[in-house]
Amino acid sequence: MKPVLIVYYSRSGVTAKVAAALAQACGADLERIQDVRPRTGVTGYLRSAWQALRRQPADIAAPEHRPADYLFVILGTPVWAGRMSAPMRSYIRQQREHFRRIGLFCTMGGSGGADVLTAMAELCNKLPVASMSLRQRDVLSDAYMPTLAGFADELAVVRDSEAAAKA
Ligand SMILES: Cc1cc2nc3c(=O)[nH]c(=O)nc-3n(C[C@H](O)[C@H](O)[C@H](O)COP(=O)(O)O)c2cc1C
Repeated sequence: MKPVLIVYYSRSGVTAKVAAALAQACGADLERIQDVRPRTGVTGYLRSAWQALRRQPADIAAPEHRPADYLFVILGTPVWAGRMSAPMRSYIRQQREHFRRIGLFCTMGGSGGADVLTAMAELCNKLPVASMSLRQRDVLSDAYMPTLAGFADELAVVRDSEAAAKA
């Protein structure tokens, strides 16, 4: 059993930056959810907002990693129209039966993060071992690094206590 898989969706790179830093902090494998249809430009933006508002799933490529192989799956998404991104909704719906323990994070312009984290936990039907909601400007300026370190620490505490319980 491998320790941690980070699965994220990112349209413009902010969530991807957090996922990469968290993977380094936790020694995790990374899986980027890939759209089948590109979301570039104004039409891509509008389609993204519309799908998220209506809680519609999106077509995504088959993942490369199997979440069932991991003790922890960390899920990261941007906030779209106050909701999780449509590709993340699709991934959770397709894979949730294979999750053991989850962690959650989201990035946003400024609002909606708490509701998105709640909705992700409900869709997974699991309580996260750690969660964080980050503003885009804090990610871009690296002001989010203490929050990220706290998230990694919480995950490490749960990992260590579970390892000790098994020993
Ligand atoms: C379609 C769309 C809708 C968005 N809606 C919100 C929103 O409701 N609240 C918010 O704070 N930010 C919103 N944003 C901003 C993104 O959440 C933010 O820029 C995020 O960090 C982008 O992550 P990414 O670069 O990984 O795609 C929206 C962005 C897009 C593209």
